[in-house]
Amino acid sequence: MPAPFSYAPRLAGVPVLWNIMKIDIVSVFPEYFEVLNLSLLGKAQEKGLVEVTAHNLRDWTHDVHHSVDDTPVGGGAGMVMKPEVWSECLDELLHLEPTTVTYDSTVTCDSTADADDTASADTAESAESATEIAANADTVPATDRPVLIFPNPSAPLFTQQDATELSHANHLLFGCGRYEGYDARIPQYYRAQGVDVREYSIGDYVLNGGEVAVSVMLEAITRLLPGFMGNAASIVEESYTGENALLEHRQYTKPADWRGIKVPDVLLSATTRRSTVSAAMRRWRRPTSCVRTSSRRWIVPSLTRPIAKR
Ligand code: ADE
Repeated sequence: MPAPFSYAPRLAGVPVLWNIMKIDIVSVFPEYFEVLNLSLLGKAQEKGLVEVTAHNLRDWTHDVHHSVDDTPVGGGAGMVMKPEVWSECLDELLHLEPTTVTYDSTVTCDSTADADDTASADTAESAESATEIAANADTVPATDRPVLIFPNPSAPLFTQQDATELSHANHLLFGCGRYEGYDARIPQYYRAQGVDVREYSIGDYVLNGGEVAVSVMLEAITRLLPGFMGNAASIVEESYTGENALLEHRQYTKPADWRGIKVPDVLLSATTRRSTVSAAMRRWRRPTSCVRTSSRRWIVPSLTRPIAKR
């Protein structure tokens, strides 16, 4: 096993009484993730909430050039990441034995989860060689199954709902693609092994690789962990969160008049203690959020929901 670049929680000698979220990241630029040592995520590692390990994909190559990519089958520009290197790495990190899957070639493979599900583990072989993860795929609660995540500009958009769901997992494994992406059979194969495989785009634009996308997803996920944020209320009140998932209203601080621009009167008159949100403030905030949401997103929120419920 190659020595990984590890950010283990520094809790020497202190028993850990909660589940540590284990996060593995595989990249050809593992140094990129040194930034995860900073800020709140760095503190969360020190507190033992998460354990992040960045691995170098090239550690699983066997050739002198440590190559991880090859030309695309069928032609086209750029290079595609090879399945053999990825599988050696992922098998090791997921504790899986290599196996062969049978694939229904009459179904078009367009790399969507639906098409990928037509591949199934070869019954005879997988019964013997697949690990507990595959064997228990239907019975193990989602939180106890590792989740393998590939950032991909052609995948469904990553949302706050995905972040919330993934914040309940015990083990996340991110695979960062580079160049023209990774061979489409990689997610297909691991789905067939019973692994919970997700592909997400962080927005409709193309980045040079998955590293930035992984950092974005990681930040969105880990800040939802209990104990991560100093003030848990800030998670409840922010955009995309809560029953109606509205965009957050405008925020102001002091002074009340800055360079001729005034804080809305309703907020000044409603200001009480720091943590208290008055009914008047709520009455101003909700329609503001609704207008923002309908003008900036494709959702038309309901203005009729009683404000008192918030
Ligand atoms: N890799 C390249 N561009 C990406 C994007 N927009 N989202 C996720 N992964 C990517």
